[in-house]
Amino acid sequence: MVITSKDELDRGTVSSYDRESELKAFDESKAGVQGLVERGVTKVPRIFYCGNSNYLSDGLTSESNSKLSVPLIDLTTIHHGDPILRDDVVREVQYACEKWGFFQVINHGIPTHVLDEMIKGTFRFHQQDANVRKEFYTRDPSRKVVYVSNYSLYHDSFATWRDSLGCLMAPHPPKAEELPDVCRDIVIEYSKEVMVFASTLFELLAEALGLNRFHLKEMGCAEGFLLLCHFYPPCPEPELTMGNSKHTDNDFVTILLQDQVGGLQVLHDNKWIDVTPIHGALVVNIGDLLQLVSNDKFISVQHRVIAKEIGPRISVASLFRTDDDDSIVYGPIKELLSEESPPVYRDVSLKEYLTHYYAKGIGTSALSHLRL
Ligand code: OGA
Ligand code: NI
Repeated sequence: MVITSKDELDRGTVSSYDRESELKAFDESKAGVQGLVERGVTKVPRIFYCGNSNYLSDGLTSESNSKLSVPLIDLTTIHHGDPILRDDVVREVQYACEKWGFFQVINHGIPTHVLDEMIKGTFRFHQQDANVRKEFYTRDPSRKVVYVSNYSLYHDSFATWRDSLGCLMAPHPPKAEELPDVCRDIVIEYSKEVMVFASTLFELLAEALGLNRFHLKEMGCAEGFLLLCHFYPPCPEPELTMGNSKHTDNDFVTILLQDQVGGLQVLHDNKWIDVTPIHGALVVNIGDLLQLVSNDKFISVQHRVIAKEIGPRISVASLFRTDDDDSIVYGPIKELLSEESPPVYRDVSLKEYLTHYYAKGIGTSALSHLRL
């Protein structure tokens, strides 16, 4: 069947081609984008063309040289146990979550050598022999350790220049021997550390919402934890594709570790703002589910990664949400509602939310379907 992607039809520039079989051939190589790079491609294959979603032609400016940047929060004082200093941090978190949906943190408690080793472990996995990587390549949703390029390859209007190793680390982690040996120890160590930090973070977020410190944790927001080790190989024609297309995250909170290459941007006041890498820092962003339960007090903001000629770029995203359970229903937290602040969302199960999330077109939020 000859299929032309919607973007291409819109542009009317690219002749039709057998997209389906090119996607299949790429997927069946089980070697990801890195496999293309290893084969020495000098042109970006058509399945990666992003058309008018391209960052150069989406009508929005990139404020690369802008003085604006996502808030940076120093967490040193929360380890001191002084309630007044803690309140200052809570207010900074509140501001960042209300106005940006993104912030960076330093002095979060995870040693820098652990962060560096996590980046190196991701590098080792994606740079090892393709035949070893292939063993992990799968789209089987029941697997806890998944190597894949483009999670929704067959549904998206274009593929992106990125491969990922996903490990579902909580509540039921894989057996150590199921993890790739080149990064096994660091995946286990980093996961432990990031879960400790997540616990602290969810306390700060609850306080920033004016709730009891343990409210979000008691809702189970930090119980499910997916570790995504992304690899963005160097791209020969970066203006034709994206590293990660614009999206919001389908979780409560994401904690992101990035290397020094850069390329992550967030949408703020209709402008794309670079999230400048800071060695030793972590990037925190609010996901759709926290926007929903906070009744829009906190915002889940679109972000993307541009493709670059230099690379690889490595990032490690830790996604937190409840343990997958169809019986859990989310809605605005009752304590946040009043006559002046009525609920703006209806209650929804995780399953229904995810159906909207995956059915949405690029750039439209799944939350819009749930607004009252
Ligand atoms: C994500 C994401 C950004 C990055 O995994 O959801 O937005 O820098 N990652 O890799
Ligand atoms: Ni994201």
